[in-house]
Amino acid sequence: MRAALAAAIRAMALLAVAAMLIGSTEAAKKYLFKTCAQSSFCRRGRAYADAAEAAGADWHPPYAVDPASVQLRQGVLSGTVVKTAVDADGAAVGVKLPFQLVFLESGAVRFLIEEDRPKSAPKRYDEAVRWAISGDLGATAAVEDVTTAADTAAGVRRLRFGPGWTAVVELATVRVTFERDGAAQVVLNERGLLAVEHWRPRGPGPAFGGEDTTDMWEESFGGKQDSKPNGPEAVAVDVTFPGYGHVYGIPEHADRFALRSTRGGEGNHDEPYRLYNVDIFEYEVDSPMAMYGAIPFMQAQRAGSAVGVFWANAAETWIDIVHGADGTRTHWLSEAGLVDVFVMLGPDATSLYQQYGALTGYAELPPLYSLGYHQCRWNYQNERDVLEVDAGFDRHEIPYDVIWLDIDYTDSRKYFTWEQSAFPTPERMMAALDERRRKLVAIIDPHIKKEAGYGVYEDMTKAGLAVATADGGEYNGWCWPGESAWIDTLAPAAVEYWKRLFRPGAFAGRAHNLAIWNDMNEPSVFDGPEGSAPRDARHYGGWEHRAVHNLYGMTFHNATVQALNAREPRQRPFVLTRAFFAGSQRVGPMWTGDNQATWDYLRVATPMLLSSSVAGYGFVGADVGGFFGNPEHELWARWYQAGAFYPFFRGHAHIESKRREPWLAGEPYTGIIRDAIRLRYQLLPSLYTAFHRASFDGSPILRPLFMLAPANDAALAIDDQFFFGETGLLVKPVVDPGVTETDVYVPDDEVYYGYPDRTVYRGVGNHRVPAGLDTIPMLARGGHIFTRRDRYRRSTALMAHDPLTLVVSVDAAGNAGGALYMDDGETHGHTKGAYLHRFFMFSSQDNILRSRSVRPSTAASRAFDKTIDTVRVERVIVVGFDLGRLKAGQTTVETFQDKKSWSSHISVTPAADGRASMIVVRDPKVLITADWSIEF
Ligand code: NOJ
Repeated sequence: MRAALAAAIRAMALLAVAAMLIGSTEAAKKYLFKTCAQSSFCRRGRAYADAAEAAGADWHPPYAVDPASVQLRQGVLSGTVVKTAVDADGAAVGVKLPFQLVFLESGAVRFLIEEDRPKSAPKRYDEAVRWAISGDLGATAAVEDVTTAADTAAGVRRLRFGPGWTAVVELATVRVTFERDGAAQVVLNERGLLAVEHWRPRGPGPAFGGEDTTDMWEESFGGKQDSKPNGPEAVAVDVTFPGYGHVYGIPEHADRFALRSTRGGEGNHDEPYRLYNVDIFEYEVDSPMAMYGAIPFMQAQRAGSAVGVFWANAAETWIDIVHGADGTRTHWLSEAGLVDVFVMLGPDATSLYQQYGALTGYAELPPLYSLGYHQCRWNYQNERDVLEVDAGFDRHEIPYDVIWLDIDYTDSRKYFTWEQSAFPTPERMMAALDERRRKLVAIIDPHIKKEAGYGVYEDMTKAGLAVATADGGEYNGWCWPGESAWIDTLAPAAVEYWKRLFRPGAFAGRAHNLAIWNDMNEPSVFDGPEGSAPRDARHYGGWEHRAVHNLYGMTFHNATVQALNAREPRQRPFVLTRAFFAGSQRVGPMWTGDNQATWDYLRVATPMLLSSSVAGYGFVGADVGGFFGNPEHELWARWYQAGAFYPFFRGHAHIESKRREPWLAGEPYTGIIRDAIRLRYQLLPSLYTAFHRASFDGSPILRPLFMLAPANDAALAIDDQFFFGETGLLVKPVVDPGVTETDVYVPDDEVYYGYPDRTVYRGVGNHRVPAGLDTIPMLARGGHIFTRRDRYRRSTALMAHDPLTLVVSVDAAGNAGGALYMDDGETHGHTKGAYLHRFFMFSSQDNILRSRSVRPSTAASRAFDKTIDTVRVERVIVVGFDLGRLKAGQTTVETFQDKKSWSSHISVTPAADGRASMIVVRDPKVLITADWSIEF
């Protein structure tokens, strides 16, 4: 019997593997994943919302704050919500749900509801914040109780906590309204959908209050049983954004950036957006289905205002959205954990990202090489293959930094081993890559092959470091290596063990150009429910997998980063992940998983990357070229043009697809791909500057239009364009075949210049721009200065001493500004002051372009300057300058540095044929490390 079962399971696993291996172009099989109706808590939650809707003013949910319990102390309003339930015998029972409203220093407000359970009952999972939040959860004392006598009579508490910000708590309905200057921005529980499925003994017959008990105590899906030992324990609340027509975020979904309504209707979804990390290879586009990662952060935006909420819950979560004439109503449901919502009042997008980052952390500055181009495929066959591809880039004069090895470099998919015949001398291969300062990324997944004699498996088992089954045994399932166990990286001992596996000499010899790729960490289990681990599996601390599912991948990613830090403490680590949660931005980049080589997937990549960008996760990318299938050549080239702007830029392809090294495309495509990759390298100084900014204030790298044009309502739904970092470059990747021209939407009244052709575009609305195959539609917004490095080098490290070009696009008033950040790109020296940070300002008042340091001068900064003291500005390009301000026949400008001055030659191109003027200052010979100015 057992043998038959095992055989059946294995057959199913093999079918799943086969599907993944074949990589059919058919869309994801919906039936493999639950709908809301198939997930019992979601079904109950939606039914509850429907009942509320039907009841209208007669909706009287059984939750109320006990007024006698309420107190305000040191920035925390606390008390007890009482849920009045009726037990199976018809007796009323008051379930106590302690709540807190915590006013945080960052300006965010935390609304937390816990549950007083009998000592004998299992504890509700309350550690999601421990993983997600890196900021201070302590309250600020600056909360003023402004409750009036009338408020008290009406059962209301009114608290002022920010610049004109107020929280209004209605005790009888447990409704909390967050106002700015008296206007409601976010309302919690406006519709009375707060629900906490309280603990109750398992028993026959109807449970408390006559709730629908179907599937409360166990449920099954796809033939897999979930034992649900804790019974029902879902939580839910509704969140209303009055006056906000658009909401964004809650990645990951392959859908538009502006999220749709989910309760049906033309162009809407019927299903809620789902957050449940799953291996959804061949995912569908334009879908609310769950994907590889989950960040329960939502931004609401209207002209001139941004607010947001973070739902700190790592269990399966569904979010219903309904857009109405008066705002947007959302309903959040999670299978376990707590009601734990953080409300942030902006008031603009930049402040909102700062507030969210103050909670969940900012991304650390990545190593510079990781912003270069990455070449991947499943699989580079052997050492010769790797080194030939490496040499191919040089032969074709295409810069690149990192080559990747997928699962088949290993011996039988046993991580930390090498397939001996193909990779006999990995350290030597890596030394060869290092000659041009290039890196190797090796994949390491969380499934560990169950095989006697495999040291990693044996150690892990012996030390009890694997994820366990519901009854405490080792959990086994199928993945790439066959039968496997999963390292439980929630356990500190497992992280320590993981570190040992990476220590120098233990893996990849002592090579120091090693980086890692963590895949399949949702976790992906071929024969598990919905292709993942069973919800009743157990983790360190006895927690059910159900409660930590969405954060498991982050713990694995985090363990690997810690391991690399231990291996090379001086270097910044680089680890790519597929599964993620709120806080993963602190750990390392992610990519959007298994897309397909079709135009639809190129199109959906932009809104997907924007969605994670606004949810604090800026270091993101999509497989360039498309993972499954073979892109037609035009698509291939267009994808590189888009990918050049992806914060993480990697070409990757499925094992069954044709080889994809850029030179195999043939002309004109190879040339177009080369140009796109070179453009990326040219813009690296600016890209790195944007990453630096993100590292201290959470500003996205890809910026939605509303960040620079917040007053324009019409720009809120645009998601096929973005601004690139701080450059002011407005980019619209071409995502359709046969395009020669396209409309670029200009979102504000600033002047825009075609980049690099200088055609002037002015006026809010669509402008027709050239978009032939060799052209990326791009406009430079007036008012910005950005830097480039124009020389071709083989890798980022080899550019370190190259001169810089400044591109100055003057705004309608004749001014411009920008920044440049530089450091060694490799170590943590910048955290001790070893960096350069300059602002550039061009002023129409005096026609002077200035470079000023905005960094404190310290021993470390001066020592760093010495390492780049030959780096100069070799060219300044000023676009849109009023040439009438030059002297007649002027051929030079005065340059000043270090109390000296000299003349620099300029070439002047007058405005003509719709193009703006251009002045090029030729080799002004200013060094980047000291202040300078150029007087025009
Ligand atoms: C799934 C990943 O998404 C894909 O990128 C990778 O090539 C395969 N696993 C094999 O490791």
